[in-house]
Amino acid sequence: MHSLTTQSYKERYARSLADPEAFWAEQAQYIPWYTAPTQILSTDDEGLTRWYTGGKLNTCYAAIDYHVEQGRGAQTALIYDSPVTKTVQTFTYSELQDEVSRLAGLLQMLGVGKGDTVVIYMPMVPEAAFALLACARIGAIHSVVFGGFAPHELAIRIDDAKPTVILSASCGIEFEKVIPYKPLLDEALRQSAHQPVRCLILQRPMHPAALHPRRDLDWQASVAQANPVGCMPLDATDPLYILYTSGTTGKPKGIVRDNGGHAVALAYSLRAIYDVKPGDVFWAASDVGWVVGHSYIVYGPLIQGCTTVLFEGKPVRTPDAGTFWRVIEQHGVNVLFTAPTAFRAIRKEDPEALLRNKYDISSLRYLFLAGERCDPPTLHWLQEVVPVPVIDHWWQTESGWPMVANQMGIEPVPVKAGSATWPVCGFNLQILGENGQPLGPDEEGYVCLKLPLPPGSLPTLWNDTPRFRQSYLSRFPGYYLTGDGGYIDDDGYVYIMGRVDDVINVAGHRLSTGEMEEMVGSHPAVAECAVIGIADELRGQRPVGLVVLKDGVEVDEPHLEAELVGIIRDRIGAVAYFRNALVVKRLPKTRFGKSLRKTIREIADGGPYAVPSTIDDPAILDEIRARLMTQNIGHAFRFQAI
Ligand code: COA
Ligand code: AMP
Repeated sequence: MHSLTTQSYKERYARSLADPEAFWAEQAQYIPWYTAPTQILSTDDEGLTRWYTGGKLNTCYAAIDYHVEQGRGAQTALIYDSPVTKTVQTFTYSELQDEVSRLAGLLQMLGVGKGDTVVIYMPMVPEAAFALLACARIGAIHSVVFGGFAPHELAIRIDDAKPTVILSASCGIEFEKVIPYKPLLDEALRQSAHQPVRCLILQRPMHPAALHPRRDLDWQASVAQANPVGCMPLDATDPLYILYTSGTTGKPKGIVRDNGGHAVALAYSLRAIYDVKPGDVFWAASDVGWVVGHSYIVYGPLIQGCTTVLFEGKPVRTPDAGTFWRVIEQHGVNVLFTAPTAFRAIRKEDPEALLRNKYDISSLRYLFLAGERCDPPTLHWLQEVVPVPVIDHWWQTESGWPMVANQMGIEPVPVKAGSATWPVCGFNLQILGENGQPLGPDEEGYVCLKLPLPPGSLPTLWNDTPRFRQSYLSRFPGYYLTGDGGYIDDDGYVYIMGRVDDVINVAGHRLSTGEMEEMVGSHPAVAECAVIGIADELRGQRPVGLVVLKDGVEVDEPHLEAELVGIIRDRIGAVAYFRNALVVKRLPKTRFGKSLRKTIREIADGGPYAVPSTIDDPAILDEIRARLMTQNIGHAFRFQAI
């Protein structure tokens, strides 16, 4: 077995691409298998890439029971730190085993079996982590829906995943605001065609919920009556979870994650990228509703035998912009992982980082950032404020783990602002042009991955392999299309420049402008519309709508805007942060009828913009620029057309 220190990055990366089977066979040895795989890399009957066929394991066993058996039962596995409820609670590996095995027993009593789906709609409480692990324990496939999504989004996911049981809580807490979750769940179930057999509701004292007598069960009371169950051996290729993510339309994509490849990839990433060992304290300040939460709050750190921190709070106002530093000191955090947005919020409130000086953060070894590009001003501020490497790394729900990173466990290299550094072993990253031709250094194009994708990456979409092929594999045969644009410089550093499709990133939340367009377009006064993501200083991006009214319709513009804002808030949720809709006479289009969203975005962002030669009516761009300026939206005042 190669140790992580005996080879340089370049040798290791080259080997991972030249002989992926040998590379990933070695990495598989770090996972406790019940039965070793018979094939490392194979193609199934549908032509999909499969890792570790023939192998049997259980991800919950690898994350909990294995460590207890290895004598780490008394080590803290999970720290729940909740400034919003003023609670800190710790669970050892043995206690976690007890909680999870009893919840798993309860799920079995409720009729959940291997291959059944379970939807989890929960705030950031320890029970959310127990829920994922309990499903994994009995081979049920969980699908977590982010707590910030509105009933409509939850209903879509319920109808697609068809859960046997839904796990939820009576409320969540956003800053000082208590958000009742149960009415949102009830509304989602009114909207969905599919109905679960049972809903298990965690009653929180700040807002207990009324339970439906025949459908809902009280979580604590039910778990107290359940018997613990053991881990069920599963095939490496059995699905562990489905996580829905925004695509270009209103129908989210159900990203499937398998058991074997996922466990191996996460364990590898914790050693090679994050450089953590068993016993280290790992804190991903994210949410279990996102892929970061799945991989690096729950599964990854536990598989690696670390202590993981589950934080129910915000970077600011819970109670102040020093809360991150406080958590690092209080729990001896070694590695922090969060989104740049979180630090933009801290910097806004505490630009001199005075609150940082109140705490001893000497336990910290690395700060990792992802979810959106780390803008150079935020990077430079952090480099001043935090005395450890600040590492931007790039990944997405589909990959499940980082695709480009400065790999601390292999060979740390100098950071270049704006770059996520080098491709991670196993990811054959290439920049392709419009016609699929490989582009040279510094040439911007489509960021693609040459197939096969490494372990951990999605094998397919839930019940929709045709959409998987069409969305990711059809544009450039032999390659996976990531949806991001970018370039590679002469030193091999990768720069991710943003999405090339209708997906935007708002405060680290991935959202579909295509879906928002469908919703705005459903208003009776709207003939057509475009929703674009414009630059936002705190959130990275935010959506803005441009609407064209139906002929003869007269509206009060502020009233229409309020209605459209309300539609998005009601149907997607407040997280969409859709605050502006402007009425324009026409949308700028090419002579072939394609909306020029990129040009509108460039205008709003105040960059120099070129008027496309194919535009049907150039004057419309001036009108839009003037409208954005009078409404004080974006930075359109900066530049005129070049
Ligand atoms: N449940 C319910 N509502 C939620 C929610 C959740 N989990 N998350 C956000 N919302 C709501 C907020 O309460 C807010 O509602 P409001 O319009 O009624 O005030 C709205 O969605 C917008 O939220 P957001 O854009 O997050 O703004 P904010 O002012 O509440 O917080 C930040 C700003 C920067 C502090 C916050 O976005 C943040 O912590 N970002 C980091 C995100 C992150 O870690 N992402 C993970 C990727 S790795
Ligand atoms: P999600 O699937 O929610 O994790 O969002 C994935 C998308 O977020 C990617 O396709 C990118 O557009 C963006 N993203 C995530 N991390 C980074 C990063 N480090 N740099 C640039 N963009 C990023």
